[in-house]
Amino acid sequence: MQIADVQDDIDRVLLTKEQIEKKITEAAAVIDRDYKDKNVLLLAVLKGAVNTLVALSSHLHLNAQMDFMSLSSYGSGSESSGKVTIRQDMSVDVRGRHVLIVEDIVDSGLTLSWLMDLLHQRGAASVEAFALLNKPARNKVHVDVKYPGYEIPDEFVVGFGLDYDEKYRNLDSIAALKPKVYEGDQS
Ligand code: IMP
Repeated sequence: MQIADVQDDIDRVLLTKEQIEKKITEAAAVIDRDYKDKNVLLLAVLKGAVNTLVALSSHLHLNAQMDFMSLSSYGSGSESSGKVTIRQDMSVDVRGRHVLIVEDIVDSGLTLSWLMDLLHQRGAASVEAFALLNKPARNKVHVDVKYPGYEIPDEFVVGFGLDYDEKYRNLDSIAALKPKVYEGDQS
C-alpha cells in the first residue's frame, strides 16, 4: 500500500520507503560485521516489527535464525504502564544464544527494557537491539539500543508495520495521521 491509497488520512510522510531502506541497509552492514563469528538469533516483537525484520534480514549476508514474540503492555490510552505480559512466547531456547531484538519503535522504552531483562534472565549469551524508530521525547527509561534507526518527534505514526487500530500496517512508508482519524475514537 502506498501513500496515494490512504492520502485522505495522512497528514504528512515522515520517512519514505527509500529512507527506511537506507537506514536498514546501513544497520545490516554493521550487524553483519558484529555477528560475523556468531550464530545470531533475530527476535521480532509482533506485529509491528515484522516489516523491519523482513527488510533487515534480507540485507544480512550472514545466516540468521528468526523467532517471534507477542507482548502486550497495559496502560491507560496510549501511555504504557510498563507491565508487560507475554501473549505468545518465542519457540527457541535462548540459553547461550546471541539475541538481536528487532523493534519497530521505542516509545516509553518500557517494553524493550523489559524484554532485554527477560532474555538476560533466561541465560542469553548477549542481548542487543535494533529499533527502526525512537521517540526520545517520550522515553521513560534509558534503553541501550546498539543499532538505532531514526529519531522522530512525539507524534503517532503508522506504516511499515506500525498500525492505528490495526490499519495502515502495509503502508510502505512511515507517516503521521490527520487528527480527524482519531476524532470520535473514544476507545
Ligand atoms: P513502549 O513500551 O512505550 O516503548 O512501546 C512500544 C510499542 O508501542 C511499540 O512496539 C508499538 O507497538 C507501540 N507504539 C508506540 N508508538 C507508536 C506509534 O507512533 N505508532 C504505532 N505504534 C506505536
